[in-house]
Amino acid sequence: MKQRSKQMKVLIVGSGGREHAIAWSVAKSPKVDKIYCAPGNAGIAEYAECVDIGAMEFEKLAAFAKENAVDLTIVGMDDPLVGGIVDVFEAEGLRVFGPNKAAAILEGSKAFSKDLMKKYQIPTAAYENFDDPEKALEYLRTEARFPIVLKADGLALGKGVLICQDLKEAEDGVKEIMEDKKFGNAGNTMVIEEFMTGREVSVLSFVDGKTIRTMTSAQDHKRAQDGDQGLNTGGMGTFSPSPFYTEEVDEFCRKYVYQPTVDAMAAEGRPFKGIIFFGLMLTADGPKVLEYNARFGDPEAQVVLPRMKNDIIEVMEACVDGKLDQIDLKFEDNAAVCVVLASDGYPVKYEKGIPIHGFENFKDKDGYYCFHAGTKFKDGEIVTNGGRVLGITAKGETLKEARKNAYAATEWISFANKYMRHDIGKLSTRLKLVIFHRHSLTKTGISLYNSNNYETQ
Ligand code: AMP
Ligand code: GLY
Repeated sequence: MKQRSKQMKVLIVGSGGREHAIAWSVAKSPKVDKIYCAPGNAGIAEYAECVDIGAMEFEKLAAFAKENAVDLTIVGMDDPLVGGIVDVFEAEGLRVFGPNKAAAILEGSKAFSKDLMKKYQIPTAAYENFDDPEKALEYLRTEARFPIVLKADGLALGKGVLICQDLKEAEDGVKEIMEDKKFGNAGNTMVIEEFMTGREVSVLSFVDGKTIRTMTSAQDHKRAQDGDQGLNTGGMGTFSPSPFYTEEVDEFCRKYVYQPTVDAMAAEGRPFKGIIFFGLMLTADGPKVLEYNARFGDPEAQVVLPRMKNDIIEVMEACVDGKLDQIDLKFEDNAAVCVVLASDGYPVKYEKGIPIHGFENFKDKDGYYCFHAGTKFKDGEIVTNGGRVLGITAKGETLKEARKNAYAATEWISFANKYMRHDIGKLSTRLKLVIFHRHSLTKTGISLYNSNNYETQ
């Protein structure tokens, strides 16, 4: 039954699994009457009218929002945010959820985010920034300890990070990033950073410029093959929550990472509104920030949003209006796993346009979701249209159960070149679990933990 309160029109910008998960969440809101998605995909089309405008066509998108009396635009992707889509919408008097260009630099420039963390004593790996390849090489030859990490400053589809084992690899890396410009202008500046070891955890949060509310934790599997082998990808699967994100880690990050980041951005005259994604590494010296993103993770959103109890529109509006302090975020006390079904050959070379079968198996199945990442309609059927094709998410009371359910559901879908990892949500026994039991303030203001390391069984 249509309620009187249903009157909002929402536009979502993006076309991946993350935007599908956002669209699914928005569709549940009792406030929303109509959803548009630009450009969207075949799965998003179930909830939204897909509009054929690209995510970087800011003027066209703003004109569309005006003509169609859109009440709120939600930007899912990093490129338009870093490019300033929010500024274009705000200049037109349109309501939009996401950071403006000045704030999205938190993701758009790794050199900026490292300098910010250093200035405000937010724990992160030691580093130096370089805009001259000769100086970078000199540093590597004289001062560096290996392995070492090279990062292109700008957006590079998650591929601009090179872990170099020795000087030769690092010299080749400088050439790739700064001279051959493998990642384009993203490599004009480079960060050289200390190599850290530990568990990685992602924590996503809503931010209204001053208040931050963190969501439940998640973890991504970035490598293409089982056992974390093969090339880096956009993400082959995720699980939530991370058993390694303990209360103690949470307490530490609240004190030294989350609010300090929001306060630092405000102090820099760049108040951040939208999503901050904290990529954390739980090192023997305590949690440290690996990276910031200025949007939901993909596929982190596909495990976090299905567990969120709040009306997403209420939370996003509170962010836009600076009233997030009035919101209490709530998550289900369960677990979720998302297994990405990719095209064989991803992330290098793969075929597209292949018919996909089995979507009907998800109908009326509570706790099972088939999020579309790269699909489109062709001659009345749904075909593959990208490297990552679908994100199969399932919930369970425990991580183990969610994992079992998600893998069972991956069998419901078939397409000729279907590829997936078989160990999503499986906690590697090779990695060391670090238990933190005490921390103390050092004179730099950064907390250190005493730690015991032991192998997980
Ligand atoms: P980023 O885009 O900065 O998150 O880097 C991508 C991936 O590279 C991370 O998820 C880590 O697995 C790895 N990485 C980045 N920085 C470091 C570091 N300082 N030490 C070890 N691994 C890193
Ligand atoms: N899954 C990692 C990211 O969205 O950046």
